[in-house]
Amino acid sequence: MKNLQGKRILITGAGIKPVGFLFKDITTDQNSHTSVTVDGFEYKANIGTATALACAEAGAIVHLVARTEANLQIIKQWIESKIPETKVEYTALDLNDKVALRKLVDSLPTDLPLYWVQSAGLGGGTVKIKDDNPYLRIDQLTDELIDAEFSTINNTIALLQFLLPRFRKQKESRICIVSSMSAIRSVISGSIHMAAKGAISRFTNAAMIELHKENIFITDIRPGGVDTGLYDSSVVQETITKTIGKGYGYDYEKTGLFFMPPTAVGEMIATILMSDGHTTSVNMVARGQWPHEGS
Ligand SMILES: NC(=O)c1ccc[n+]([C@@H]2O[C@H](COP(=O)([O-])OP(=O)(O)OC[C@H]3O[C@@H](n4cnc5c(N)ncnc54)[C@H](OP(=O)(O)O)[C@@H]3O)[C@@H](O)[C@H]2O)c1
Repeated sequence: MKNLQGKRILITGAGIKPVGFLFKDITTDQNSHTSVTVDGFEYKANIGTATALACAEAGAIVHLVARTEANLQIIKQWIESKIPETKVEYTALDLNDKVALRKLVDSLPTDLPLYWVQSAGLGGGTVKIKDDNPYLRIDQLTDELIDAEFSTINNTIALLQFLLPRFRKQKESRICIVSSMSAIRSVISGSIHMAAKGAISRFTNAAMIELHKENIFITDIRPGGVDTGLYDSSVVQETITKTIGKGYGYDYEKTGLFFMPPTAVGEMIATILMSDGHTTSVNMVARGQWPHEGS
């Protein structure tokens, strides 16, 4: 059985959100979020948090990064309660702060080979937008939203630049960058999100080609909708039901909305990180949700 023992995984973008709405899996009828329950409070895990759990379950030491220290403490407590033999590390910082990024990279212990999962991005609440709805028509786009969407590509490049000297010294390095299915298929009201995801996905592909001969193996992860709290707002649900879904021929007024659990993505990433192969990219959606790979 393969595992990630003896590896440290840096996971940028680990977070939780309050449970604002319950979505159901279409086949099991179970809640589709990954429940993080600590001290009697329940939260939804995001993709970075679910990836951390899957990697820690596979034996890795995980090092989490996000801005909100209180959330990182809760995630640490949750993972350590599930896997008592693990010790979760974290650093609270803003990925847009290059000085802090440099300090992070210099402070990471060198006792184990380092891999990196980049899952930071814009979710509900990251930027102050009306009704937590990032799905806006072109006329409604604000400078703040545009800058926030594109900041992910800037800070991904900056962190990769800082990590490269260390990666080049390792026998092999693995990187998974979570872009989105939005990188390869567009929706109405998603122009800036599609543009930002397309940019990071193409950067990831170009970096993969440039770095694989140095044993730095990069994977582009393109999920469809994941139940991390982004879709809990009623305005977001209405936008998807009335505009986005209809554009793809789905009648969510009849079926309700459904999403993948973040564990589906986290477990996929852990599998890729320990594979004997180099998975170049992954497209994955909830069962029954838009398998439109660019079509
Ligand atoms: N959920 C989906 O349906 C879905 C589908 C496809 C792709 N994706 C992509 O997958 C990634 C993760 O999505 P998610 O749903 O798990 O979203 P999320 O909960 O919003 O995750 C974003 C994470 O990034 C952190 N972050 C944002 N800006 C940061 C910054 N400047 N510095 C440090 N940390 C920062 C946030 O934590 P703090 O606010 O504490 O910093 C949060 O933990 C995103 O890129 C998203 O676009 C999501």
